[in-house]
Amino acid sequence: MNETFQLSLNSVKSFLFDGEIEKYDVPTSLANKMLHDKTGLGNEFLGWVDLPKNIGSDELSRMQQFANNFSKTIDYLVVIGIGGSYLGAKAVLEALNPYFPEKHAVKVLFAGHNINQDYLFELNHFLKDKNFGICVISKSGTTTEPALAFRLLKQTLEEQAGKASAQKKIIAITDESKGALRSLAEKENYATYVIPDDVGGRYSVLTPVGLIPIAIAGFDIAKLVDGALQMHAECNVNVPFDKNPAAQYAAVRNALYLKSFETEILVNYNDKLHFIAEWWKQLFGESEGKENKGIFPASVDFSTDLHSMGQYIQEGKRNIFETVISVKNPHHHLEVTKDKDNLDKLNFLAEQTIDHVNKMAELGTRIAHTEGGVPNILIEIDHISEFTIGQIFYFFEKACGIGGYLLNVNPFDQPGVEAYKNNMFALLNKPGFEKQSEIIRKKL
Ligand code: PA5
Repeated sequence: MNETFQLSLNSVKSFLFDGEIEKYDVPTSLANKMLHDKTGLGNEFLGWVDLPKNIGSDELSRMQQFANNFSKTIDYLVVIGIGGSYLGAKAVLEALNPYFPEKHAVKVLFAGHNINQDYLFELNHFLKDKNFGICVISKSGTTTEPALAFRLLKQTLEEQAGKASAQKKIIAITDESKGALRSLAEKENYATYVIPDDVGGRYSVLTPVGLIPIAIAGFDIAKLVDGALQMHAECNVNVPFDKNPAAQYAAVRNALYLKSFETEILVNYNDKLHFIAEWWKQLFGESEGKENKGIFPASVDFSTDLHSMGQYIQEGKRNIFETVISVKNPHHHLEVTKDKDNLDKLNFLAEQTIDHVNKMAELGTRIAHTEGGVPNILIEIDHISEFTIGQIFYFFEKACGIGGYLLNVNPFDQPGVEAYKNNMFALLNKPGFEKQSEIIRKKL
């Protein structure tokens, strides 16, 4: 299989001065070096940089073996987590699972990514007579959404299977030594995996956070890591700027941002990539959006959203640019059929593939949007697979780290996430929040 990953900036150049991208040669190299030397902001969270190189094949085989054995004991796995603790696995499973699975090794469901009473009620009800296991993932162990879901589903599992069997069907992925989930896991003797201290949630997909659920779902985690490893080499600190896709992408985004293109839309023409975009939004939104700076990350699925967002993108406020992930080859072959009445006038497409029509929609849209004032960055992958998704993950992570340093922010913290939590705890009268409760109630 062809595994090329191609970044093309041809449809951006008319928005920039001659030589404008090349000016980023030195700043992006310095930023890349700071990531590898661990000398920049947030340097305590740079474990992800060499992760694809550092995970040994033995460790991967052990994880895959554990997952294979675990998957034989259940029909459903509920992955409980939020933000970086679930989006990577969700992105991979949505991309690789068939749309209409006829049979599954293990069907993966998600919980703890919302505070939705009806969702939790219906999930809990659904699971009552199912043979299920739980993979609860939380670095801090105290995040409200997953903690609420775990409390409920753990009880259901214990009632259904008995405490001793339930304990064997729960995996906890959390901090090595501290936090509520670590304490509970040790008390209850759950199987555990560690989220390394030096890897933040949104950079954690290639740790057990992503790898264990993906392996239990039956996918090849070694190939995912191989894809990331290949991109690790392509975006390494010693690769010259003009050959380094992460540096080029970071440079172009920054150049556009400085020209007031402040919203980036990640576009797919294959909605299996929908959750790759959700993962990407967290990565860039949490990494860059601070100190009143940062590109706002948005996403669309085309051609579906051309019929809803297409008008705005073509003619609305001119502060947006697009990054298109184009998948060259679908997995299946399907041609437009011939119809003897031809009332829909589509016979001119007969015997062309559906994908050819999609590709012309893509090309036509890219030309129209560029001509309408929307710079277009193009990323082409040959097909969707574990390997190419691994490439995409590492490419964006590296570009995000470099881009954060170009903006002069710490791309590895997320202080702003605490504001809503503090207000919510104050409003819920959480012990320890008495003073904040008093203050916030005066605002109501
Ligand atoms: O990027 C991050 O660090 C956050 O989005 C976290 O992933 C998210 O809040 C979940 O945190 P935790 O794993 O501690 O429950």
